[in-house]
Amino acid sequence: MQASASAKIILMGEHAVVYGTPSIAMPITELRAWAEVNPAEQFQIEALDTGQTIRLGGNEPLARLAELSLQALKADVPQVRISLRADIPIASGLGSGAALSTALARAIALACGRDWDVEVLNNVVYQVEKLYHGTPSGVDNTVIVYEKPIWFVRQRPIETLDVGTDFHFVVADTGIPAPTYESVGAVRRLLETKPEYVRPIIDNIGYLTEQARSCLARGEAEELGHRMNANQECLRQLTVSSDELENLIRVARNHGALGAKLSGGGRGGNMLALVFEQDAEKIRLALLSAGARRAFVTRLARTGERKL
Ligand code: MEV
Repeated sequence: MQASASAKIILMGEHAVVYGTPSIAMPITELRAWAEVNPAEQFQIEALDTGQTIRLGGNEPLARLAELSLQALKADVPQVRISLRADIPIASGLGSGAALSTALARAIALACGRDWDVEVLNNVVYQVEKLYHGTPSGVDNTVIVYEKPIWFVRQRPIETLDVGTDFHFVVADTGIPAPTYESVGAVRRLLETKPEYVRPIIDNIGYLTEQARSCLARGEAEELGHRMNANQECLRQLTVSSDELENLIRVARNHGALGAKLSGGGRGGNMLALVFEQDAEKIRLALLSAGARRAFVTRLARTGERKL
């Protein structure tokens, strides 16, 4: 038996979303975390990517996830070994932690013969996101658990998005791991020390994200690209960009991207470029030549084609 969960990418609104403005995020279904269930004498989790073995009662976030899952599912501890692995690079802005948690929670439900209520699962994964990230907004676990493009505002019901045409993106990894809690903490400190500088930037990101939603609905790629570029400038002002991200963003724009920005926590990790479909492979190769560790093409499908 095997369960899985997808990676995610944030199109607009990261960081500001922690303070109540909206964000737009989509799953990357091609990149996944996997959890395989096999019979065993006692319950254990094997993290294949780190070589760690995790048991109930330990301090690891995944041990906590397993306990919370069993409580929420009202299930006895199953006699299984769950082996976890992910195609998603760690600390790169693609939601590897939330994807591993979600895959593990789904595997536990399989092992216990239970089904998750999606909102309960989302809440369990969110509890563990807090152990990893301190004060997460909840956007990462929500897009991963629902596995569909979302409009996310903290503590509000999630909304799906109208998408008027197919949008094509290249995602490229700086190869520099950057834990989200560090960049989120840096923005929080900046907000505390210079609120008059940071508040307008956060509000501007919220405003750009609202506009981006309309661009998606109307199928306006060039207009969306402008909003992504403006969002990137705000993120740079919040100190969460980096030389490597700026380099890849510049290369993407110089090779015809309609817009490009960092995605997720920043200071490393991945950037995202909106491209015309016919330019995608050229831009992907240019990003690899410019030093990207990995680069791939993905698509946000027009609403109606997508299975919700
Ligand atoms: C990380 O993927 C997104 C951030 O906005 C943090 C969060 O929303 O919790 C940087």
